[in-house]
Amino acid sequence: MDNAKLVYNGQDYELPVVVGTENEAGIDISKLRAQTGAITLDPGYPNTGSCLSAITYLDGENGILRYRGYPIEQLAESATFTEVAWLLIYGELPNKAQLGDWRRQLSKHSFIHEDMLKFFEGFPITAHPMAILASMVCALSAYYPENVEEDLQTNIARVMAKAKTIAAFSYKKSVGEPVIYPISGYTYSANLLRMMFATPSEPYEVPKVFEDALRMLLILHADHEQNCSTSTVRMVGSSQASLYASMAAGVTALWGPRHGGANQAVIEMLEQIVAEGGDYKKFLDRVKNKDSGVRLMGFGHRVYRNFDPRAKLIKKQADKVLNHLGLQDPLLDLAKNMEEAALADDYFIERKLYPNVDFYSGIIYRAMGVPLNMYTVMFALGRLPGWIAHWKEMREDPQNKIYRPRQIYTGATQRDFVPLEER
Ligand code: ACO
Repeated sequence: MDNAKLVYNGQDYELPVVVGTENEAGIDISKLRAQTGAITLDPGYPNTGSCLSAITYLDGENGILRYRGYPIEQLAESATFTEVAWLLIYGELPNKAQLGDWRRQLSKHSFIHEDMLKFFEGFPITAHPMAILASMVCALSAYYPENVEEDLQTNIARVMAKAKTIAAFSYKKSVGEPVIYPISGYTYSANLLRMMFATPSEPYEVPKVFEDALRMLLILHADHEQNCSTSTVRMVGSSQASLYASMAAGVTALWGPRHGGANQAVIEMLEQIVAEGGDYKKFLDRVKNKDSGVRLMGFGHRVYRNFDPRAKLIKKQADKVLNHLGLQDPLLDLAKNMEEAALADDYFIERKLYPNVDFYSGIIYRAMGVPLNMYTVMFALGRLPGWIAHWKEMREDPQNKIYRPRQIYTGATQRDFVPLEER
């Protein structure tokens, strides 16, 4: 592809164009400031490529998502979460020996240090489980401070395996029940559900339909290239902060309602509409009125401009779970009505706003009995392999630099300090 040409201050500059394996083009401006003295300005980075990456391909116009080349639909249908995690982190599907070893490692490292149980005692019972997860994942760096990079594979297995245990323990904390330890021989999803819902007096037979739905949800959440939390992980990791500290940063970035926190916000929104009489058309009118500051949660995406392939799969899965249980959730019907109304409304059509991954996932969590404040935790567990893969890719890149954007300063120009008595 030809170089791009820039005319600035009467001078011509040639800018190289980088083309990816799917023909995505990027204008390389890495020498722009040195050559021209100017920088680019791109608030929120919708036009900025921060790196080259071989992990996930996303085509928002056509609703395509592939992990390491494999279509998300195929992985969601047939793969296990642990093999998808390996695929994302190490680049290829594991063979039998690799998968067996990976499973053994995840099982072996799923216990947390008994001393860490004391931390749970310190949190108030009302603590949001995302606060606990972020703190505890960061605290892992106190227990494994050395040789993270020398024995990276072990530390990757540790953070993957222990995050699930921490998540389940944070749920137990919130309901005041004793923790249930992980056991081997269960899938990642079944182990998590068992640790959450079994009690010392009552075992929990994990329903197959829940195990499979959770497997699919975790896979669908596993990576999404340079989203807010993954970019945060790369940003923090670029300073050479540890794997654990970088993962904790991912958790906190995910928490906000514009990102992974939207799954909780969607159900809160639906519950609020029901509580106010169920008039969703009135609610949509509020959304369309910019002064209200209200958004249709679970709708819209920075990259998808046609449909989110994950949302389609999750909607089907929500139907499957509820049908299997013979349940009717009025929130699912409400969500479907709202989707239909929004997709036929000029406001949403003009802005290309569609349901995203968070619109229907909460319906499935509700059916499983997962409490509202755990939804984003489930998302974080799913996203962990993606964060790890990006952290590893960045750290292994010999060209990696500390992330350090610039700015255009708009504050006061130089002025002299005025002593307090003269102000
Ligand atoms: N409801 C109503 N209007 C919306 C919504 C929404 N959910 N999303 C975007 N818009 C409108 C904006 O008001 C804006 O309108 P304007 O052009 O008239 O000013 C236009 O659509 C573009 O919106 P932006 O905020 O500029 O889009 P951006 O790409 O920055 O934001 C985001 C994407 C944050 C996801 C946004 O769509 C949103 O807030 N959605 C609701 C929260 C949500 O579901 N987040 C989860 C996203 S998926 C994930 O992170 C896992």
